[in-house]
This record gives sequence, C-alpha cells and structure tokens, in this order.
Amino acid sequence: MTETELLLPLRTGEIRIHDAEGFEGMRRAGRLVAECLDMLVPEVKPGVTTEYLDRRVFEFVNDHGAISATVGYRGYRHASCISVNHVICHGIPGPKALKDGDIANIDVTLILDGWHGDHSRMYGVGDVKRKAERLMEVTYEAMMAGIAQIKPGNHFGDIGGAISEIARLNRYSVVEDFCGHGLGRLFHDEPNVVHSSAYGTGPELKPGMFFTVEPMLNLGRKDAAVLPDGWTAVTRDRQLSAQFEHSVGVTETGVEIFTASPKGWHEPFKVKSQVS
Ligand code: MF3
Ligand code: CO
Ligand code: CO
Repeated sequence: MTETELLLPLRTGEIRIHDAEGFEGMRRAGRLVAECLDMLVPEVKPGVTTEYLDRRVFEFVNDHGAISATVGYRGYRHASCISVNHVICHGIPGPKALKDGDIANIDVTLILDGWHGDHSRMYGVGDVKRKAERLMEVTYEAMMAGIAQIKPGNHFGDIGGAISEIARLNRYSVVEDFCGHGLGRLFHDEPNVVHSSAYGTGPELKPGMFFTVEPMLNLGRKDAAVLPDGWTAVTRDRQLSAQFEHSVGVTETGVEIFTASPKGWHEPFKVKSQVS
C-alpha cells in the first residue's frame, strides 16, 4: 500500500458527509483557488500563451502553501486546464498565444492542508463578440441556477434540472460526457453530479455533502470528442463551448459556495467593469 492510500479515505460508493472541520478546510482551499483565478484576470490578454498562464498558476499555488491537484493526476502534467473557444474542457496549456476575441475557461484544482479547491471561470480575451459573451453569461447563470437548488431534502437531479432549463430556454446544449463530482480530501469522489438531469431524480442532498457544479454549455450540439492527446475535449461541430465551476457544500439550510472570489470576480460581468 502506498503512503497516499494510507492517508486518504477510500471511495466507498456512498456520498460522504463532512463535519465543521471539513467546512473550514474547504473554505480555505476554495478561497485560495478563487484568489488564484483573480490573479489571472489582468494576465489574460491577446498574445499571452496558455503555458505562461499555467506557470503563473503553478507558482501562485506553491507560493501560498498549497499544491496542485492536477500535476501528476493520471499522467496530467499541468497546474491548470485552459480550454479555448471550441475546447469544452481539459485543454492542455501550451505555446499557442491567445488572440483577440477568444474565450477561455481556466480550471484550477489545488490542495490546501489536504482539502481540494476546484474552480473554473471563463475569461474573455480582448474584444469578445456578443455571441460568445452571451454564451459565457448564460453558462454562469445556469451554474448559479443549479447551485440555487441545493438544500437538504432536494435531489441531485434538481441541480441538472435547473441547468438544462436555462440552457434550453437559450437554445444551447448541455455537455453530457463530463460531470461534476464529490470532493473533499479526495479530488474525484462520489457522486457524479450530472448537469442534464431531471428535477426530483438522483440521491437526496444532505448537510455535509461537498461537490462541484461545473456545467459546460455549447452553442451548437452537445457532442464531444477527445483529441489524440488523450485529454483535450472539443465540440464535434467545433462551435463554442463555455464552462464555470464552483466547489460547494450543503449546509443545514442551503448551500455554501467555497470558491467565491473575495473580489466578486467569479461573476463574468463584474470582472469586465472592474478591469479595463
Ligand atoms: N479540474 C477538473 C475538474 O473540474 C479536472 C481536471 S483533471 C486534469 O474536475 F487532469 F485534467 F487536470
Ligand atoms: Co471539478
Ligand atoms: Co475543475
């Protein structure tokens, strides 16, 4: 048995219930990853390479007493996933520069004192077309509508129910190939959080459950394909895709968002008015 196996809880198939100490740990990890994505706001601009942004993430995480959860994860070698335009998720940072009008999701997962903070946002590069901006706004709205369903007694399906409703009203599709997930001391724990489910279905939400809500919405069809690098997921029709992700915990009365930005910059519209 390796050291990691001894220190980490095993996946039991059940949804774990965490205590006050868990909430405190997740609050700290969540805040740090939000601050990391805040740090990138002025850095994301035309001409910057995604590997430069990844380097900034790697340094930020290490400089703040945390470690990257993705470096070494199933052979992944970077501290972030950067998914540009038609890339749905798991875009690998590289030497290609961002250009005016691109939209990019930056997804960072760090571990602070054993607790995982997993968070992603969309960044507009320079002048973004209205069509792309609207996709980002609606995707954020869909994630928040999903999160608004979270309270004891509701079901996991209510989250995806609300997300798909917003997507449908705006004629976007919801990606089905990737899900949110339980997290805490583990990166990917039970359950799978499905973003295109029906109200009232799935397990019941209980206080102390920790998981991510991370919907991916496409301008065109929902279908995804993974490139030969084994990671990069793209839309099959090569139309734009957007994603936001928060790590959350179910409280006695509702939900706590662990990855809220102290500056409020997790909201796409706020960022625009503050910077520029
Ligand atoms: N952060 C992603 C998630 O939301 C997972 C990335 S795994 C990686 O679950 F290996 F691609 F980095
Ligand atoms: Co996640
Ligand atoms: Co993530």
